[in-house]
Amino acid sequence: MIHTIQVHTAPEYTVTIGPGLLKECGPRLREAVPLCHMAVITDSTVGPLYLETVKASLLEAGYQVSTYVFPAGEAHKNFNTLSSILEFLAEAQLTRTDCVAALGGGVTGDMAGLAAALYLRGVKYVQLPTTLLSAVDSSVGGKTAIDLSAGKNLAGAFMQPSAVLCDTSCLGTLPPHVFADGAAEAIKTAVLSDGSLFHCMEDGGFRLLELAPVIAACVQYKAGVVERDEKERGERKLLNLGHTVGHAIEKCSDFAVPHGHAVAAGLAVMARASSRLGWMLEDGINARTAERICSTLACMKLPVSTEYPPEALAQAALSDKKRAGDSITLVVPRGIADCVLKTIPVSQLQSVIEAGWALE
Ligand code: GLY
Repeated sequence: MIHTIQVHTAPEYTVTIGPGLLKECGPRLREAVPLCHMAVITDSTVGPLYLETVKASLLEAGYQVSTYVFPAGEAHKNFNTLSSILEFLAEAQLTRTDCVAALGGGVTGDMAGLAAALYLRGVKYVQLPTTLLSAVDSSVGGKTAIDLSAGKNLAGAFMQPSAVLCDTSCLGTLPPHVFADGAAEAIKTAVLSDGSLFHCMEDGGFRLLELAPVIAACVQYKAGVVERDEKERGERKLLNLGHTVGHAIEKCSDFAVPHGHAVAAGLAVMARASSRLGWMLEDGINARTAERICSTLACMKLPVSTEYPPEALAQAALSDKKRAGDSITLVVPRGIADCVLKTIPVSQLQSVIEAGWALE
């Protein structure tokens, strides 16, 4: 079954989720992107798996196609790679009526999206996510970025894609730790949005669930948030649940800890902190929320703690985008489907992390 979700932003676009979409990407993109020169950007892991399929379908549909493959990994989400992509777009002579296609996971989507936002002051781009993480989160909503040495995603732009095609056939063969990375973002979304979705994840374990409806539920929730607050002035900050500590863990590990694993540990720290600081609504239905969140993450073999001490994490978080002057806005889970934004002085961040850091 094919799921479609409309995202009402400018541009308005459709997220299509289902099996076999990459081999049909040419005809499927025709409505959103008139025939043009399509520059497909991918990395050295995804390229060998899917680039030929995508290229063949685009050519067959009548697009002119150029391709660029960069070395895989978060370590390459930087100015050097971005600059090479921009030079490639110029050498390929892409014009304002042409389009960039981001084929891959979050790193590819963020960086190809940013290249599209910058090149000629903005050309269209489409997202072809091939990981669970990019399917449930990063391919939708128009955040594009690269990392700086000071922290993750510190240079970027908001630029919505013209279409998202999520081929669920790519997800069955993901290595378990890459799958788990995406499960962390899906669990985060369920904690934010939907008691029944969280209940299914907690009950059956994520792997037992059918993926397309889970992805569709996550995208549907995110689409609503993005429509109401595209530029993250308020409500969209909720999507950063687990990310303040998560980004700090990524930074402390020099990006050796993958994003979803870091977010899982960050979510667990915040859930325990919320419970121990008395912010959790521990009544009836919400009782044991922190424990339930941690065991759902652990079920996917995701970490629920971190070796980096609170002081190092707080220090690393100071360069986070969520900091505004001397304060920082945290996303606090008070229960399932009940998370709130809490702005605290930067000086209190370490004690909040300390409260949730230890397992017991
Ligand atoms: N990944 C969080 C957001 O798109 O706002």
